Amino acid sequence: MRIRAARASEGRALSAPVLRSKASWGYDAAFMRLSAPVLRVSEEEIAAGCALVAVDAEGRPAGVVAVSSAAEEGEAALGRLKRLFVDPAWQGAGLGRALMVAAGGFAQAGLFGARHRSDFFAAPSRNGSARGRGALRRGGVAACCRSTASISTDERAPASGRRAKVQSGRLRMTDWNARLYLRFEDERTRPARDLLAGVPLATARSVVDLGCGPGNSTELLAARFADAQVVGLDNAPDMLAAARRRLPSVAFVEADLAAWQAEAPVDLLFANAVLQWLPDHRALLPRLVGMLAPGGALAVQMPDNLDEPTHVAMRETAGAGPWAARFAARPVDRARLPGIEAYYDLLAPLCRRVDIWLTVYNHALEGVGAIVEWVKGTGLRPYLAPLDEGERAAFLAAYEGRLRQAYGPRADGRVLLRFPRLFIVAVR
Ligand SMILES: C[S@@+](CC[C@H](N)C(=O)[O-])C[C@H]1O[C@@H](n2cnc3c(N)ncnc32)[C@H](O)[C@@H]1O
Repeated sequence: MRIRAARASEGRALSAPVLRSKASWGYDAAFMRLSAPVLRVSEEEIAAGCALVAVDAEGRPAGVVAVSSAAEEGEAALGRLKRLFVDPAWQGAGLGRALMVAAGGFAQAGLFGARHRSDFFAAPSRNGSARGRGALRRGGVAACCRSTASISTDERAPASGRRAKVQSGRLRMTDWNARLYLRFEDERTRPARDLLAGVPLATARSVVDLGCGPGNSTELLAARFADAQVVGLDNAPDMLAAARRRLPSVAFVEADLAAWQAEAPVDLLFANAVLQWLPDHRALLPRLVGMLAPGGALAVQMPDNLDEPTHVAMRETAGAGPWAARFAARPVDRARLPGIEAYYDLLAPLCRRVDIWLTVYNHALEGVGAIVEWVKGTGLRPYLAPLDEGERAAFLAAYEGRLRQAYGPRADGRVLLRFPRLFIVAVR
């Protein structure tokens, strides 16, 4: 989750969570129809430069805060909180508070439009909603003076739950967690080894590990291409911190793969277990191939497990509990992969060689609890993120119950986690 200034073209996109949020308070359709024109975020409001938006990992708006401009209030008056709305799917996650704090930081740092003064809230409204108008006064709220802020949940701090908190100027709420991810390091790194074994390059000058995570895949690349400049790229600060500790001599950069562009042609783009999180592969894969040097390779591995009991049970649990309406309003399911033939047809015209294969791993784990721990570090994250601590425990209990029906114990008492993964190696 990131908080950034709203953009002029975003009026319609920002209005959607505002309207959903208002409707979630139980107003009837007639009231919603009447109030919609007032609730919609106008381009003029954004142009005044005093609106911030919280966007999820896919860039979808999850919440909006707007404060009045100096032009609206006159020079003598204090500013006003004009609106603060959080999409129902994100309510209870501390996002409203995070938006308030970020708005305070923007105001203090003078990052709002030039027409806005630096005065800000004396006290947030009691319920944190736009119904209570905060009085504004200079220097009232802790500074968060970056033009964007990341939010993540710290899995290592259960006492703090999913409350957003300010950490050295950054807000953290939902993020990847390196420690949790590495609990199954051997099993997770095995497909990276298998993928690398399929890369037909004898040497490489430049290698980028896309979605490098805690550096486990980067380590394999650095060992195989010892003379290459190896760079790890990820958008999760916790993962990058772990990667830097693991490989101090390797460069790691924080970037969103959806927008990232290599500065010079690359010999190997290696993407182990990351592209499944990105949308629109029909555009993404040709874009990545376009960054390769002639003879360079794109190597991709993605879990192909949406029809496995682990993921069927996630969807069923999301659709059956007290949170069902929230997940229905804002689906969190990962997009399906286009399929082997589609990938081949996409890449064959651009590449001299395309190799695609499917491997089904069967991981012997201690029990169903271990399967839950495994997916908590990956596939379950989008389902747990919108829930509060209590709901999260209830979701996990219901989810584990479903898994128990699907994964019976083997002769030695262990369970087998069936895990199909799709591999693609394309040489330009
Ligand atoms: C499952 S981990 C894979 C880690 C490692 N490559 C491995 O082989 O085990 C996926 C990683 O992709 C990163 N990621 C997900 N979406 C991303 C994006 N849009 N841009 C950059 N990194 C992203 C996550 O932060 C996470 O560290």
